[in-house]
Amino acid sequence: MNYNKKTVKDIDVKGKKVLLRCDFNVPQDKTTGAITDDKRIRAALPTIQYLLDQGAAVIACSHLGKPEPSFEKWAKKQAEKGKDPASLTREKWEKTLEALCMEPVAKRLSELLGREVILAGDVVGPDASAKAAALQPGQIMLLQNTRFEKGETKNDPELAKAMAGLAGADGVYVSDAFGAVHRAHASTAGVAAHLPAVSGFLIQKELEFIGGALADPKRPLVAILGGAKVSSKIGVINNLLEVADTIIIGGGMSYTFAKAQGGTVGDSLLEADWLDYCNEMVAKAKAKGVKLLLPVDTVIADRFDAGADSQVVKNGRIPDGWQGLDIGPETVKLYCEAVQDAGTVIWNGPMGVFEFEKFAVGTKAVAEALSRTSAITIIGGGDSAAAVQQLGYADKMTHISTGGGASLEFMEGKELPGVACLLDR
Ligand code: 3PG
Repeated sequence: MNYNKKTVKDIDVKGKKVLLRCDFNVPQDKTTGAITDDKRIRAALPTIQYLLDQGAAVIACSHLGKPEPSFEKWAKKQAEKGKDPASLTREKWEKTLEALCMEPVAKRLSELLGREVILAGDVVGPDASAKAAALQPGQIMLLQNTRFEKGETKNDPELAKAMAGLAGADGVYVSDAFGAVHRAHASTAGVAAHLPAVSGFLIQKELEFIGGALADPKRPLVAILGGAKVSSKIGVINNLLEVADTIIIGGGMSYTFAKAQGGTVGDSLLEADWLDYCNEMVAKAKAKGVKLLLPVDTVIADRFDAGADSQVVKNGRIPDGWQGLDIGPETVKLYCEAVQDAGTVIWNGPMGVFEFEKFAVGTKAVAEALSRTSAITIIGGGDSAAAVQQLGYADKMTHISTGGGASLEFMEGKELPGVACLLDR
């Protein structure tokens, strides 16, 4: 696939200030705040290192979690969740913001780069402005959580202008936040109206891998789709039906397909509003000559629990009081055979509740089958990436995306605002 956006290599950054949007939205330990997976920080290093080596002064920024920047809105949301209004103090709200400060990210980034990362106490306030003004070529600073600003998620033009202003009159905007390019926010899209805007190496790599697999795949192209909800995968299934040779369905969403085909699914996950859609997809696949594989058997459990009693039943034969939590052994065989001779495999969504060891068998078997094929293997971000990592197959895959929502929207064929705003080549 021809990548048609300008990158850091197409622009002179020497002696300039570069506002660099990264996706440092990393998982943290709830009690200690320690970063539990630094993959996204590592993924930004090539671009950061390149910019520093070129003599740029780097003003990095990212969101972290979903802080609520307005006390009033936070209190309202908590009250709606049933919290006692008297307990909803400003102090408590401030604690929620403190928990999403960028300190742990700055610390980890500094360790990985082996140099100081100057941390600003705000996003566009006096501290960030002073530190950005004093920043020298070869130095890097990190702004506070961009979502501490009310205008961030609203793509407020004033905030975008102020953020761009930190880089000065001859500044440059570089986006390498692949995980956030599906968001039209001030720091992911708005700033591009004020500075020459190019992409970093991570966005380029992600789009070349995923885009290449869709536009010009080595065939056969096999897409494996899992996860809980059919409703969240509609766009992807629709789009993949146009390009894939085989589509494999697993995970929670397969029970809606089973029900649509006249089966019984007991207490399994079910989206009753999507039954017709499932049948339409089955018919569309048939009409297009795309092989659509559905589970033939299921591992069911008597409750949603790691230690639940389990048994294997035929697909669509789940008794009341039981729920499907994994694909069964015959399905594992079928799916592993289907990926064996693939040229390209795209995987998005686990086959079962892989967080429970007992119900991780299907997901693990598919991961293992992918690790053995000579196919190009591309893993969507989010749950599938976590599964592959947790099960120990990460280094066996061709590409693991750093963007869950972003890779999904890209596979749906949607325009990504954080990419569309960058300069064309
Ligand atoms: C992600 O984790 O998928 C990205 O960082 C985007 O985060 P968001 O869903 O909170 O916008």
